[in-house]
Amino acid sequence: MSTELKLNFPPNFVWGVATSAYQIEGAWNEDGRTPSIWDHYCRIPGAIANGESGDIACDHYHRYQEDIALMRELGVKAYRFSISWPRIFPSPEQRPNPKGLAFYQRLVEALLAVGITPWITLYHYDLPLWLHKLGGWTNKRILDEFESYTQTVVKALGDRVKNWFIINEPRPIAWLGYGQGVHAPGQRDYEAFLKAAWHLQLTVGKASQAMRSLYRDLVIGTVVDLTAFEPLTSSPEDCAACDRFDQFYNRFYLDPTLKGEYPPLIESLGFEPDVTELKQSFQKLDFIGINYYFRQVVAADQKASLLQGSFIQETSGLTEMGWKIYPAGLTKLLMRFKTEYNNIPVYITENGAAFQDLVDKEGMVQDEDRIAYLRDHLAAAHTALREGVNLKGYFVWSLLDNFEWSRGYSKRFGLVSVDFQSQKRKPKKSFYWYQEIIAANTLKLI
Ligand code: GCO
Repeated sequence: MSTELKLNFPPNFVWGVATSAYQIEGAWNEDGRTPSIWDHYCRIPGAIANGESGDIACDHYHRYQEDIALMRELGVKAYRFSISWPRIFPSPEQRPNPKGLAFYQRLVEALLAVGITPWITLYHYDLPLWLHKLGGWTNKRILDEFESYTQTVVKALGDRVKNWFIINEPRPIAWLGYGQGVHAPGQRDYEAFLKAAWHLQLTVGKASQAMRSLYRDLVIGTVVDLTAFEPLTSSPEDCAACDRFDQFYNRFYLDPTLKGEYPPLIESLGFEPDVTELKQSFQKLDFIGINYYFRQVVAADQKASLLQGSFIQETSGLTEMGWKIYPAGLTKLLMRFKTEYNNIPVYITENGAAFQDLVDKEGMVQDEDRIAYLRDHLAAAHTALREGVNLKGYFVWSLLDNFEWSRGYSKRFGLVSVDFQSQKRKPKKSFYWYQEIIAANTLKLI
């Protein structure tokens, strides 16, 4: 008897890889691009590991053809990438910058020419610095600015690109960027965090309305990062703390986006949104994208401000980022879209892991850890599919080793390794593993 276990995916399942502009493009000051908040933040001493920046990154701006050839070899049907806003609107006067748009036109053409469908993220962290100087996400003016940027991009590409993500990860943008100050723009200001979150929530409805009025056939969604929270014990106190974390980190972004409402917790956050305004701008999205990496264990803690709970640091089964590997969390989170969010179509828009990559004598990265991580998460996703979750696709983070925000180049998430000195790319073992899955539309477990 064969012990081989095979998990088949649905016929039109979308297999992809994901990247973002600042993390791979480089060419930070070319063809009229001006700095984003990340260019600026990277220059603050101590902000980024080893003082690194995305100035050159993977030099994808010049090497996109080589990268597309890699994707073609990999066999992905879809490529998720983001547009750099400061390339398109480098200054208040220059909107748009034709050279900035031309780069993405070339990229889209080159993808379509080899049968890879572009999936575009409009905003992946890199706010133009000039807009930050006007208050960035804390100033309501951003809604009009983002709408006008969105219209420009969609006018230029919407005839050929049909799949769009509006915002990537509102939680890190608002909380890490404005609340905790560990991402650009590096503010530590609770009021600024609440304002940024509110404007990010409003912007999705407003932008999708503008997009639909340009092309009626667009498939529009947005991306949230979700954490699987688990209580330390089954005590009512730990469970209640865990629920507060889930509301604060997950539902605070999901509920306004998918339901036009807020979870009950916000009453204790000092947040008083104009829910009528939210409802007015609310638009039904075609799908939701979720980025999933890890779980966090939570214990009740009366002394902890805001959420009266604290994270418990786990010590084993971690990735190189220190993140707890927990595939079952992906199944659980996916199930919630079936039960709590009307079975909306879902894409896993990021999932992947950084490990210390081991290179063998032939120069091949033998990334068995990454393969195990991806395999177990795909199996977890398949469990959700079998349970009736409307899961439509999966994008590995990431195609290439790249600039990992405050961790610089020290953390490698790629299916392809990059030597940042020579810019040489080399597929890792996980690349060939993923290639087989895509070709067979099947995950082999044994
Ligand atoms: C995001 C993520 C990515 C990260 C990845 C690994 O914003 O979508 O932060 O850009 O590189 O999640 O940390």
